[in-house]
Amino acid sequence: MDMNSLREAARERFGKACRVCKICNGVACAGEVPGMGGLGTGAAFQSNMQALALHRLQQRVVHQVSEPKLSCTIFGQELSMPILGAPIGGITFNLNDFLPEAEYAAAIVNGCRQAGTLGMTGDGPNPGVFNGGLEAVRLAGGQGIPVLKPRDNEAILEKMQEAAAAGAIAVGMDLDAAALINMTRAGQRVGPKTKEQLAELKRHAPLPFFVKGIMTEADAEACAWAGVDGIVVSNHGGRVLDYTPGTAEVLPEIVEAVDGALTVLVDGGVRSGTDVLKMLALGADAVLIGRPLTVGAVGGAAGVALVLQKMAAELLAAMVMTGTASVEDVTEDILW
Ligand SMILES: Cc1cc2nc3c(=O)[nH]c(=O)nc-3n(C[C@H](O)[C@H](O)[C@H](O)COP(=O)(O)O)c2cc1C
Repeated sequence: MDMNSLREAARERFGKACRVCKICNGVACAGEVPGMGGLGTGAAFQSNMQALALHRLQQRVVHQVSEPKLSCTIFGQELSMPILGAPIGGITFNLNDFLPEAEYAAAIVNGCRQAGTLGMTGDGPNPGVFNGGLEAVRLAGGQGIPVLKPRDNEAILEKMQEAAAAGAIAVGMDLDAAALINMTRAGQRVGPKTKEQLAELKRHAPLPFFVKGIMTEADAEACAWAGVDGIVVSNHGGRVLDYTPGTAEVLPEIVEAVDGALTVLVDGGVRSGTDVLKMLALGADAVLIGRPLTVGAVGGAAGVALVLQKMAAELLAAMVMTGTASVEDVTEDILW
């Protein structure tokens, strides 16, 4: 298996639901939600790519860094690379039913483990999405992270306990799914939360707890006030609100606002190790990868691991080429 054969197989398996473009940038699939695209005009998805493309790197080769250290610690867990698998749920209706939810989650969780990192699993109106993900995490000895929809606090706390019983190392909530109509239509109400409601979740959370879908300083400060353990700067891959900025645009001000009070992860348009390095330079502790790992999942866990290993190799080379010795040593000075 190599990247080319993976991509060809994905093109066949996904049918019209995803064209597996050479550059996965949200142009061909604009408006395809359900599907793999961005909402509406697709501007928010495309902004993620454009924001990253605007940054350039300082090429530095007069130094001693030949073997940079890629490992890092996130939520108390040592990872081989600052790259995690993003939660992707609803494979059955977004992606031509190409894998049952549980099998997809297992490919992500196990593929991330094979690569020495952690994968997240999603949630959705079909109980199979959360349960399939949780089962994958349980079977992986807890080496995975379930991410819950912003249901009522009582429902979230119940599911957090299930995550803890499965041995999960952390649990998240994608608060940017606050307006997901398919959840509410299925009788599972979702909505935004006040900072007091976030604090209540944190107070009772049996595991490290983070909020995914933060795009402003004010929301980040509210999360810090609530005492949560981390945030993911994310616009849900451009799938929840048209015309947001790209995540790389808002990341630096959010990092400055929280000032080290919590772990800051980021996702959206990260397609290469060079993109990972840019996000680290903009202040992230680590990144999540969404759609590229879905292509990897066509090859099962081994396919997911292959995509991650390719990105790690690119990151390593980019760190040598910018004179960056370790993930902790990445600073904005490497940006031109
Ligand atoms: C089909 C699809 C389903 C998704 N499902 C979820 C989900 O269940 N929970 C969640 O937190 N994010 C979900 N996301 C968002 C991803 O976790 C992630 O934020 C986004 O895909 C990152 O952008 P990228 O795909 O450009 O890397 C989904 C994204 C896609 C494309």
